[in-house]
Amino acid sequence: MVKVTVCGASGGIGQPLSLLLKQSNLISQLALYDIVNTHGVAADLSHIDTHSKVTGHVGPKELEEAIKGADVVVIPAGIPRKPGMSRDDLFKINANIVRELAVAAANYAPHALMCIISNPVNSMVPVVSEVFKKYNVYDPRRIFGVTTLDLVRSSTFLAELFNKDPRQVNVPVIGGHSGVTIIPLLSQATNVSFGDLSEEQVQQLTKRIQFAGDEVVKAKNGSGSATLSMAYAGARFTLNVIEAVFGGVSRTECAYVNLQADPNGGAQNVWRIAGDKEIDYFSVPVEFGKNGIQRILPIGKISKYEYKLLKEAVAELKSNIVKGTSFITDDSKL
Ligand code: NAD
Ligand code: LMR
Repeated sequence: MVKVTVCGASGGIGQPLSLLLKQSNLISQLALYDIVNTHGVAADLSHIDTHSKVTGHVGPKELEEAIKGADVVVIPAGIPRKPGMSRDDLFKINANIVRELAVAAANYAPHALMCIISNPVNSMVPVVSEVFKKYNVYDPRRIFGVTTLDLVRSSTFLAELFNKDPRQVNVPVIGGHSGVTIIPLLSQATNVSFGDLSEEQVQQLTKRIQFAGDEVVKAKNGSGSATLSMAYAGARFTLNVIEAVFGGVSRTECAYVNLQADPNGGAQNVWRIAGDKEIDYFSVPVEFGKNGIQRILPIGKISKYEYKLLKEAVAELKSNIVKGTSFITDDSKL
């Protein structure tokens, strides 16, 4: 019996993500929450002949019912970018939305695995974590920023270059989820010979991955950002976590997490390479197990260029983290 609540379920990501989750036999209840249209989306999805029961909940009065007892809460709620905006420009509106949802989760589903999609992810994961701390229900092993789209894009773009099947090409992506904080470790890509790429190709590909979100924002021309590829990535991440936690299968994926989830494991590796012990959150390869994060895996050997990228990412990441953290710690009403 696994209850999954999707918050922001009527949105551009929320709808296709819910459709993909509806196909899983591991989910028994799919609770769809949004401030608009959720009953319609739920009625529609509920006709699909798969295992889970779909329920729709609209508006703050129905939030408790939506989230109560959830095993997994997925949050793609909030506004997306328009051309010319940074993810950080979304902070003010989205932090308020994510705080409200985190408070509900801390009250009604304190043990839920929290999968945060809303941007800026680099700050929203600290927002959720700090709310959980205030409610004394914090477990860093259970709160994740979903950065899977960066992995999906890296596989696609690199496989295109080598004319390979993208599913066979895996690239770890570490750091965070915005511009220069996105660090694809192309030197560790599987099933391609990295040595065949010129320095210029590596740099071009890295930039394309770091700014791939802008490609979509520009092409959508004011109507939003990536939704379908994100729904795919979000479902892949959520189902991997569910399979590991409830299905007893070992699953590994990169995610943006609090390094205190496994301070003696791969976190040491990040602190040493980043040269900054104060970095609290980072996207790292994670092994999931029955309690959420079982192990943060070592980052492994990285190239000189990747090392330089990592150094460049730290300052921005730190300021994103402080912004999210202080949004809650300075909030005397919570
Ligand atoms: P959207 O506008 O299409 O959908 C957002 C939904 O959130 C809407 O249905 C809206 O009604 C709902 N919402 C607003 N306030 C809410 C509240 N208080 N409670 C519950 N729901 C609420 O936007 P989208 O394209 O689906 O994007 C959603 C978010 O995901 C954006 O912040 C976007 O930047 C982010 N995103 C993240 C990634 C990633 O890789 N992590 C990728 C793409 C988009
Ligand atoms: C993405 O990477 O596509 C998302 O973070 C959305 C955006 O604003 O670019």
